[in-house]
Amino acid sequence: MERERQENQVRLISLAEGFLYANVLFALHRLGVFRLLDSGPKTLPELAAVMGCDEHRLMRALRGGLVTRLLEVDHENRYQVSGVVKDTLGPAADPSLDAWMWFLYSVQPAICQLDKTVLSGQPIFHFFSQLNQAEIRQFSLAMHNYAKSRGADLPNFLDLSGYKTLLDVGTGPGTYAFELAAKYRQLEISLLDLPSVLEVAKEIEAHYSLENQPHYLPLDFGREEIPGKYDVVLVSNTLHTIGPASSRALLKRLYSNVNSAGCLVVQAQFIPDHQPATRCWPVVFDLILMSITPTGENHGLNETIEWLKEAGFLNVASCRMSLLNTNSYVIGYR
Ligand SMILES: C[S@@+](CC[C@H](N)C(=O)[O-])C[C@H]1O[C@@H](n2cnc3c(N)ncnc32)[C@H](O)[C@@H]1O
Repeated sequence: MERERQENQVRLISLAEGFLYANVLFALHRLGVFRLLDSGPKTLPELAAVMGCDEHRLMRALRGGLVTRLLEVDHENRYQVSGVVKDTLGPAADPSLDAWMWFLYSVQPAICQLDKTVLSGQPIFHFFSQLNQAEIRQFSLAMHNYAKSRGADLPNFLDLSGYKTLLDVGTGPGTYAFELAAKYRQLEISLLDLPSVLEVAKEIEAHYSLENQPHYLPLDFGREEIPGKYDVVLVSNTLHTIGPASSRALLKRLYSNVNSAGCLVVQAQFIPDHQPATRCWPVVFDLILMSITPTGENHGLNETIEWLKEAGFLNVASCRMSLLNTNSYVIGYR
């Protein structure tokens, strides 16, 4: 009994202290310590000299890096990055993971005031409408990072053979549409997002060699008409940014953008319909949305299936992809 009580205390304390460890990671990353160690191990005086900061304070921060196993010391007492950092933030790793770190760091001041948002119903700040072009690029690269890594299996599960045109609504970096067009070479893709976001998608397009030139539709789908008819309409990780009421309205509008016998696909990180037993990204992600957007809210699988049926789609079905991929999708046919 006593042991169980102690274990529960440890569990609660580690939850409460989790932010401290995350902040050691953010600080070392933002201070550029990992970058400086890319070229090999360095002593404390060497690091402090390059960074132009106080040796003692830096030593204390580096000690935080040692206990989080982000850093190690070699036999000459020189600091070096651990395997975890080398594989994720090192020179050979995908640079857009940096952007994901930036996103988590940026939303942190909001999420740590979650209690206030729950009481007031107001986000702590409006994250998306405050971004400048450099930050939009960072955010889009963060989404690209996920789509290129754990999210990359959409083309393996979603069979688009026989379809000719695809509209990606809220395309962000465009990665999912590019990946689908890279596999289904006949596909002609149209990417819809705000003009500033599409500038980044054009940058990402340069990594792909596609059969058909992509079309860009720079518009605000909340205020403007969505032009054209397509065999496939993809709405990936976008409904959560606008919330349930606008999502239902958007899906109803999109019905008329789908060719007959075509389909609409909603890819999302669905809140589980049954209470999950452990850590669950879609649930905490929903809390981020509540803290940084006016109407954003993550949605569940069954709820989304109902929205598609309500919009008129038939044979609505869902698909879970690989285990490590937090995305699933719902598909409905016209
Ligand atoms: C979270 S991102 C998803 C990006 C990408 N589809 C993915 O799955 O990684 C949501 C995208 O929806 C776009 N979006 C949100 N509201 C929009 C609107 N009213 N008009 C056009 N795009 C919008 C945002 O700019 C953003 O790029």
